[in-house]
Amino acid sequence: MDSVGSTNTEAKKLFFQQEKEGLIVIAKRQTAGRGRKGRPWLSPIGGLYFSIILKPRLGTENAPLLGLLSACAVARSLAAVGVENVRLKWPNDVLIGESKIAGILSEALSIGDETVGLVIGIGVNQNCPISEMPPGLQWPTTSIIDEIGRETSIEYLLCSIVNEIDRLLQILERDSSFAAVLDEWREVSSTLGVRVRIHEEGKTTDGIAKDIGADGALIVETDDGLVNVLLGDVSHLRTRE
Ligand code: BTN
Repeated sequence: MDSVGSTNTEAKKLFFQQEKEGLIVIAKRQTAGRGRKGRPWLSPIGGLYFSIILKPRLGTENAPLLGLLSACAVARSLAAVGVENVRLKWPNDVLIGESKIAGILSEALSIGDETVGLVIGIGVNQNCPISEMPPGLQWPTTSIIDEIGRETSIEYLLCSIVNEIDRLLQILERDSSFAAVLDEWREVSSTLGVRVRIHEEGKTTDGIAKDIGADGALIVETDDGLVNVLLGDVSHLRTRE
């Protein structure tokens, strides 16, 4: 599409009009792009914005884990186009250093109480230099063009990410387990081993990020013992211990 409010919202609408698993909605720009926690996602022309409908055989209650899986796919694809030092910040921010280059919004598709599918929405700052982004960025941000100094093909990056997602989904179905995906996430994570601040339900707690659980929760060692964070936000406090 040339322009749409949000590819995630469009994909959801199409899903309920009987579109099948694998449908991808891609737009050149979004006018109401959405990030996690209801934040806006600035989406000028030059970025990659797409959403894919999935119905994983392992159960659609796994939205957080499929977000992690997609983050691994984006990390590999960015490396494949020449971006260096790609790291993942829990749950699925894609960073270069501490600057965000891509984000993922996974949303459940529900009929009544039953989750029947997922929409995975992926936004990559690709060919839009950060100096030309509209004001309103909430954190340090970078783009592929800022990192490697040249334009890259949006179609190529889209295909690469989708192929990587497909590869990881096949591993998931072969093993009937997320273990291999979680190992891949651990390898590229910049969160593990780092002192973090958890922001959850209006309160903050500090601790060391120790690991990621089988459900995708971040396991943090705090003064009060181990805490599993599944829905909160996390900031890095930078000192690796
Ligand atoms: C985040 O980091 O908070 C998630 C950002 C997700 C942005 C993408 S762009 C394509 C898709 N459509 C949306 O409205 N959001 C996602």
